[in-house]
Amino acid sequence: QDSLYREKNRPQFHFTSRRGWNNDPNGLIFYEGEYHLFYQHNPYEKEWENMSWGHAVSEDMLHWKELPTALSPDHLGTMFSGSTVIDYNNTAGFNKGNTPAMVAVYTADSPEKEVQCIAYSLDKGRTWTKYDQNPVIDSKAKWNSKDTRDPRVFWYKPGKHWVLVLNERDGHTIYTSKNLKDWKAESHVTGFWECPDLFELPVDGDRSKTKWVMYGASNTYMVGSFDGKTFRPESGKHYYTTGTIYAAQTFTNIPESDGRRIQIGWGRVSHPGMPFNGMMLLPTELTLQTTKNGVRLFSVPVKETGKLFKLIHQWPVLAAAEANNKLKEFKDTDRLRIKTTIKLSHATSAGLSLFGQNILNYDLNFNLVNGVFYSPEDMTSAEITADIYIDRTSIEVFIDGGAYSYSLERRAAQGNKEGFQFWGNAIEVKGLDVYSADTIWK
Ligand code: FRU
Repeated sequence: QDSLYREKNRPQFHFTSRRGWNNDPNGLIFYEGEYHLFYQHNPYEKEWENMSWGHAVSEDMLHWKELPTALSPDHLGTMFSGSTVIDYNNTAGFNKGNTPAMVAVYTADSPEKEVQCIAYSLDKGRTWTKYDQNPVIDSKAKWNSKDTRDPRVFWYKPGKHWVLVLNERDGHTIYTSKNLKDWKAESHVTGFWECPDLFELPVDGDRSKTKWVMYGASNTYMVGSFDGKTFRPESGKHYYTTGTIYAAQTFTNIPESDGRRIQIGWGRVSHPGMPFNGMMLLPTELTLQTTKNGVRLFSVPVKETGKLFKLIHQWPVLAAAEANNKLKEFKDTDRLRIKTTIKLSHATSAGLSLFGQNILNYDLNFNLVNGVFYSPEDMTSAEITADIYIDRTSIEVFIDGGAYSYSLERRAAQGNKEGFQFWGNAIEVKGLDVYSADTIWK
């Protein structure tokens, strides 16, 4: 890969395809030591069209190896978003000897309608055979709408059946099946748009106490219960992350011994002048934690990302001016990670900017972080903590241990402005850790 991935605006620790367009992650699955990332891809141009499933594999979710296109358009349409599972019990009859099929469930999009299809692979996702009786779901007539897409499939162990969640017009429909081919609509949850996800998580790490999360493409979710057929919300709709992120999906088939729920989202970041466009954000681990507002989703970069960053400076308490001085040498940084805690002295705004772009803007009066409502767990301390990942074209920020996070498009540096600036009324920078960042392209 030596001569590749060397362009000046190539993100250095985020996945981008060598060339072409990418949007949603698809079919995220762990199998036989490999993490698979399929994704909405135009292999030929930098614009959104010719939708196909691109494919990359990794052992750590950071260093990816691109493989040939997995699914290409056919007579039913272009290849829209979907998911993959391993059919250990040969329910669909695609397995061969001891090799279970990896089955992809995806949408074929045509000008007329969107139908759900399946394909299988017996060689770890390298080559695919489409089911000869596709589609397996055609629900356009039922909804009088073309918007029926993005199947999310998983095995529901207690009921010994498959569950498929589908975006249909005004929300997510839950289907069940015994064989991945014949599907029955069971229930519907309104208020979500595109790319459903539905998963179970322990509350506060206690595996005997779990809740289910229903999820939609704009990172909104409801917490509730699920009996294999119906999702019953126990909460309103919340979000835990905002910004350029869209259409995130979580991995299936992560071993129980690991037990993590790992998510990757599409970063809607444009890359003018580059042979590629779009990117994937850092893989994050999702957990449910009890907060003063109820049970909420938290998200932090997976522990594997730790090895990309090396602590190079650690300063304890600093005044803003001192902190700005310390960060001067990094103003033209290519990539960097900064962990910091700001203590406000007034119930006004404070934050950190880079060339005038606010990386963090915390308003303690209106309880806003970068304009979005955020109410910290501890309202007595006037402190906010940010773990900031700066790459060439994007910035990701994780607030207070992942209680809230966001992603920004990084603006080009402006020569006449200061580099990093802590700002705010008599603030204290309580801890400033600076890490160098490795590149994933070697
Ligand atoms: C979300 C989305 C999906 C669709 C795909 C098409 O970004 O619109 O609903 O399947 O992208 O590329």
